[in-house]
Parts: sequence; C-alpha cells; structure tokens
Amino acid sequence: MALPTKIIVTGAAQGIGRAVALRLAAPGAHIAVWDVLKDAVVETAKLCMDQGAVARAYAVDVGDADQIEKAVAAFETEWGKPDGLVNNAGIFPRSRALDMKLEEWDRVLRINLTGTFVTARAVAARMKDAGKGAIVNTASGRALAGAANGAHYSATKGGILALTKSLALDWAGYGIRVNCVIPGLSDTAQPRVEMGDNELYAAGAKIPLGRIGQPQDIAAVVAFLLSDDAGYMTGQSVAVNGGAIMVP
Ligand SMILES: NC(=O)c1ccc[n+]([C@@H]2O[C@H](COP(=O)([O-])OP(=O)(O)OC[C@H]3O[C@@H](n4cnc5c(N)ncnc54)[C@H](O)[C@@H]3O)[C@@H](O)[C@H]2O)c1
Repeated sequence: MALPTKIIVTGAAQGIGRAVALRLAAPGAHIAVWDVLKDAVVETAKLCMDQGAVARAYAVDVGDADQIEKAVAAFETEWGKPDGLVNNAGIFPRSRALDMKLEEWDRVLRINLTGTFVTARAVAARMKDAGKGAIVNTASGRALAGAANGAHYSATKGGILALTKSLALDWAGYGIRVNCVIPGLSDTAQPRVEMGDNELYAAGAKIPLGRIGQPQDIAAVVAFLLSDDAGYMTGQSVAVNGGAIMVP
C-alpha cells in the first residue's frame, strides 16, 4: 500500500489523531503533527521518529486561519509540497440547543467545519501545483444519527460530509482526492466528557461487533483512504463503527 510521504495530521496530540500519525510513521515519511496541546503533540512527533519517520510538532489552532496558513507555509519551506492531509482535529462540548450560547455554536463551527475547510484549501493549493494529493476529513456517526446534546457538533460533522463531496468534485481535475472517515463511538478522551469507563465499554456491548472502536481501527481506514490502493476513490465517506449505524 503506497502512502503519501509528506503528510499533515491535525489534532494529533492524542486519540485518533495520534494513532493516525503513528500508523503513517515509517522510514521515508515526513509527518507534521498539529495540535493546541503542545507537550502532547511534541510527544506524538517523538513517537513517530521512534518508528523511523521524520516528524515535527506544530502548535496550531485550526480555529485560526492565519496559524493554518503559516504552518502550511512552514511545511512547504522545510519539506516541499504536502501530498497527504488528515483533518482530524475536532471538539464536542456538550450542551442542549435551548441552553447553547451562540459563542459556543460559533466556536464549534469554526474549529470543526471552518478549520477543516481552511486547512484543506491551504494544503490543496500546494497539492494542485504538484498535481497530486490525498485528503481525509473526519466526520462522526452523529452526522447521521444526530446528537441531542450537540446540535453544533452534529451540524459540523454533517457539513464535513457535504464539504468532502464538494471539494472532491472541485479538485478531482488537479489529481487531489478528498475522502472522509466516519468514526463511531471510539476509545478516546472525547466520549469520556460524558461517560465513565464502565458506561463506555458497556455501550460497546450493544455494537454489532461487540466493542467500541479503538483509535487504531479508525487509523487503518484513514491510511487506506490516503493510499494509492484507494486511488479510484474520491468524495466518499466510510463509516468505521463496528456496524453500529445499522442498529435501530
Ligand atoms: N472518539 C469518538 O467517539 C469519535 C466519534 C466520532 C468522531 N470522532 C472525531 O474524531 C476526531 C478525533 O477525536 P478523538 O476521539 O481522538 O478525540 P480527542 O479529544 O482525544 O482528540 C481531539 C484532538 O484534537 C485537538 N484539538 C481540539 N481543538 C483543536 C484546535 N482548535 N486546533 C488543533 N487541535 C485541536 C485536541 O487537542 C485533541 O488532541 C474528532 O474530529 C472527533 O470529532 C470521535
């Protein structure tokens, strides 16, 4: 499976983003890992280097378009044009719609949806020059099922499904593929905001494959979508959820 060799992974300090970076880290790979959690993302870069990759951590808030542009420009200066991007960073503050502050709505849209768009666009501008590239966005099962405590979150994730198709159509002629992964309930910090370990693992028992997802389960599909093996796929969103979405 031939993978891109100059890759950016956002939200890579922990969870799915770190697993993706480690899945891609091998001799010959150049990986830039971005996050707002500075110490932890430096640790991700070290772990990538332990696996033989060249890696560099960047403190980047994907809610800030200037920081995104600067980090992509720094990547290009150091390593040349990126040929892979994983838009993984995302937040899911829990709140009911009637109580939701407009500031919180705006913040979730800015980080999850606008951050995905601005990062994809900055990277695609360089990929276009090179005539090739692969981008993987990150949605959520909440895009399909909704979230009573996260109208903002599910709206951004639904937006990412539509954005993926639009960017895929727009950039196919430049040799840039844009796909999306749809993780189901996964074993990371994000669901632990509202669930303890017992509740989280009990929820796994109701999933057809009998467990919640591990970050590595998602990372494996992200790697496939980035790779040449998925060279005839673009605009597609692939659910990785143990069959959960089929459960009524
Ligand atoms: N864990 C799940 O059950 C689940 C399910 C569906 C989708 N997802 C999605 O998967 C992705 C990864 O989530 P995770 O489960 O690993 O959660 P996580 O909270 O462990 O990781 C998210 C990472 O994104 C980073 N981040 C947050 N805001 C950022 C910003 N403004 N700029 C840069 N980085 C930022 C965080 O610091 C963190 O390292 C997210 O997009 C999430 O919505 C997760």
